[in-house]
Amino acid sequence: MPRMTLDRMLQSQGFGSRKTCRGLIEAGAVKIDGEIIADWRIEIDTDGLEFEVDGQRWAYREHVYLALNKPAGVECSRRPSHHRGVLALLPDNFTLRNVQPVGRLDHDTTGLLLLSDDGAFIHALTHPKRHVPKTYVATIHEAATPELIAKLQAGVRLVDAPDLLRAKARQVSECEIEIVLEQGKYHQVKRMLAAAGSHCVALRRIAIGGLTLESLDLAEGEWCHLDDKQLEKLVQHG
Ligand code: URA
Repeated sequence: MPRMTLDRMLQSQGFGSRKTCRGLIEAGAVKIDGEIIADWRIEIDTDGLEFEVDGQRWAYREHVYLALNKPAGVECSRRPSHHRGVLALLPDNFTLRNVQPVGRLDHDTTGLLLLSDDGAFIHALTHPKRHVPKTYVATIHEAATPELIAKLQAGVRLVDAPDLLRAKARQVSECEIEIVLEQGKYHQVKRMLAAAGSHCVALRRIAIGGLTLESLDLAEGEWCHLDDKQLEKLVQHG
């Protein structure tokens, strides 16, 4: 059974340094099964553990795997410069446990963004060799044409890619194209559209692997924990 002292457990969940966590415990802010535990030395079993800090309920998680419906005007970088950072949309303790975006979306791109504090998970999903498909809906300036779709499918050349970059593409409404990419180059959708003679005016990511934003039912700015079934979907292609 995974056991650890109460201060260590709280620290692992992002409630601050050991000193801060001991302070919280000694101040009576921490409850388990409705009972205040004021001794940080107590060893607890973390399996299925639920606890309260300052009246808020938490479940112990070794790692967190989150999905966010990213709004526009939010930066994915760790040190946002022009807009608010994406971590500001999550509880503070996720930042303290080093939750990071899995890859990046531009500040004006909306839709499905994953975040986690599991380095192996982040690496597995972002490694170019894994070819996890990402599905976007791009709104373009003019009506889409069969020629534009054909150009994206045949491949366009970008300065930082030696090979032609191809995308699965299909028109979904007059000015909207669904585009599926397996790489994640900087501004890739926008640059591919520009290279094909078009102009992207809005971009939304609607799926990663087989996990769709629609299935998560999140309003813009909302997030949720992903369960095992949803995590499996990430690596199901097509
Ligand atoms: N392609 C882009 O151009 N921007 C994104 O945010 C994601 C993919």
